[in-house]
Amino acid sequence: MVECLTSVWARHGRLTSEVTYTESHRNMPRYGATDTGQALPRRCGRDCNLAAMEIREVAVVGLGTMGAGIAEVFARAGIGVVALEIDAAALNRGVGILDASLSRAVTKGRLTAAEQAQIRSRVRPAAGFSEAAAVDLAIEVVPERMEIKREIFAELDRVCSPDAILATNTSSLSVTAIAAESKYPGRVVGMHFFNPAPVMRLVEVVSTVLTTDGVAATVSDLARRLGKTPVQVSDRAGFIANALLLPYLNHALHLLATGYASRADIDLAATVGIGLPMGPLALLDLIGLDTALSIMEVMHGEFGLPRYMATPLLRRLADAGRTGRKAGRGIYDYGDSSASDNHDQGGNALVSAAPDTVTLIGAGDDVEAELASAMASAGINVTRNAAHPTDLIVIAAEAGRPVLPAALAAGRPEQAVGLHLAGKLAPGSLAEVVQTSLSSADAVEAGTALAAKLGLATVRAPDRPGFLAGTLLYAHLADAVRMCQDGYAGPTDVDTAMKLGCGYPRGPFELIDAAGAASVLTGLEAMHEAYGYPEFAPPPLLAEHAAAGIAFAASPRPGR
Ligand SMILES: NC(=O)c1ccc[n+]([C@@H]2O[C@H](COP(=O)([O-])OP(=O)(O)OC[C@H]3O[C@@H](n4cnc5c(N)ncnc54)[C@H](O)[C@@H]3O)[C@@H](O)[C@H]2O)c1
Repeated sequence: MVECLTSVWARHGRLTSEVTYTESHRNMPRYGATDTGQALPRRCGRDCNLAAMEIREVAVVGLGTMGAGIAEVFARAGIGVVALEIDAAALNRGVGILDASLSRAVTKGRLTAAEQAQIRSRVRPAAGFSEAAAVDLAIEVVPERMEIKREIFAELDRVCSPDAILATNTSSLSVTAIAAESKYPGRVVGMHFFNPAPVMRLVEVVSTVLTTDGVAATVSDLARRLGKTPVQVSDRAGFIANALLLPYLNHALHLLATGYASRADIDLAATVGIGLPMGPLALLDLIGLDTALSIMEVMHGEFGLPRYMATPLLRRLADAGRTGRKAGRGIYDYGDSSASDNHDQGGNALVSAAPDTVTLIGAGDDVEAELASAMASAGINVTRNAAHPTDLIVIAAEAGRPVLPAALAAGRPEQAVGLHLAGKLAPGSLAEVVQTSLSSADAVEAGTALAAKLGLATVRAPDRPGFLAGTLLYAHLADAVRMCQDGYAGPTDVDTAMKLGCGYPRGPFELIDAAGAASVLTGLEAMHEAYGYPEFAPPPLLAEHAAAGIAFAASPRPGR
């Protein structure tokens, strides 16, 4: 199955998530003008339809990692920004982040000096909340702590007009709980930007059961005006993107903690094998292990399922202060590039250790033929006869089928390894060297060296369903199907969220459709049978699509 996915992603290439601020974007009609050019009323009173509001000025509270970028996005779209911080020093620092970002854009020729000045003139650093009295929307981007968010909302309630929309950029706190304490809960929404805000195109617009009709539509239109793609969801822990991303990252760390695969191999399997822009462990370090832990805890509190339980290593690393890049040390070490624990060799091997003679055992299919021809071209003597004394037995491994039975049948299981191609056999593509419980260390070395000699990137994986790339991917795809099955989001919104919020080249449902629901189902069934974990149980919606032979894109009722 991974073969299909990888080749599809390779065909479509990777997304560049860079937003280009074109002239036409900057000159987009202001929200509040109808298609016919008629101006809509700016204010409509607290009982009226907030959808008709024109957003001319916003307040951004908290100009840290996210807030400075969000302020930049608003100002670039021609919207006035009142910038608020906890004190003058923090305000200077935040405005400095924004200035540095604009200066970089000028240096790179993406912005003229005149445009920079114009954008900058729209940002008004403010001494206090009273300066936000006239804004049409205020967004809080303060640390992820409920008590701080509550304080900010109380201030905004006090100074802002009852017609103003109040938004939170929270990643994991309950928007409903924030709204419930507001004087006018109907105007409170989540407006969840992704990091870095000027680049990532997704905005999750989160409504609560208290949100007034039309507010989410207004905020979605505003997001479009900012050049973003909004996805509207209801208030649920993790929304779409984090609810899918975090369990997958946590699963990857669990594989490391349990010795399933090495750190380098896990990241390589995800990037080269699956085609994701970043390995899950490197991404955890970037997000911050403490942040990842708190999001997992919120999701576990909400859903209570084992899939959302933080793996103990995540908690230990966070407790130890090894929170990732920001601490200089997390799963990897960023302080000292020569540190020994940054250099686990993973599947790397010396080509010189490659075997001279190989017994190749396969299913008589194209993969076996391709491998035989590549080995012969590399000067390796290949036989199909297991009785011939050779340096190594290679089983052309198939996803969903264990290697051990073929190794036992060959009579020399200690000299046998599986080789699973996660895509077409091409220079730089991924080969998983599958070690059975009887494979000797020498055989694993030789198999790894052989794959390297064929020009393949290699990882080592145990002889378990999905090997390495598949085991990460199948569970992730199952989460996406379950989210759709729960009726939380449709396939298109899920795909949009993962592509624009996480930089995926293709969304989970596009991947399932490309591979075929039946193939993903087979992978999950094998994992579920082997482990018995409920999180690997194939969702009925996937089984239904497999049985009906229909793609999610073509499904009349993809979620129920
Ligand atoms: N960092 C991310 O990748 C990311 C992505 C999406 C959403 N978020 C969410 O965005 C929010 C902010 O995260 P961040 O990473 O930008 O945090 P951060 O710590 O980088 O920035 C928070 C800013 O808020 C300011 N602040 C603190 N108390 C304040 C107060 N009382 N009044 C005004 N300003 C105050 C701080 O001085 C700081 O500059 C959080 O809710 C987080 O969950 C973060």
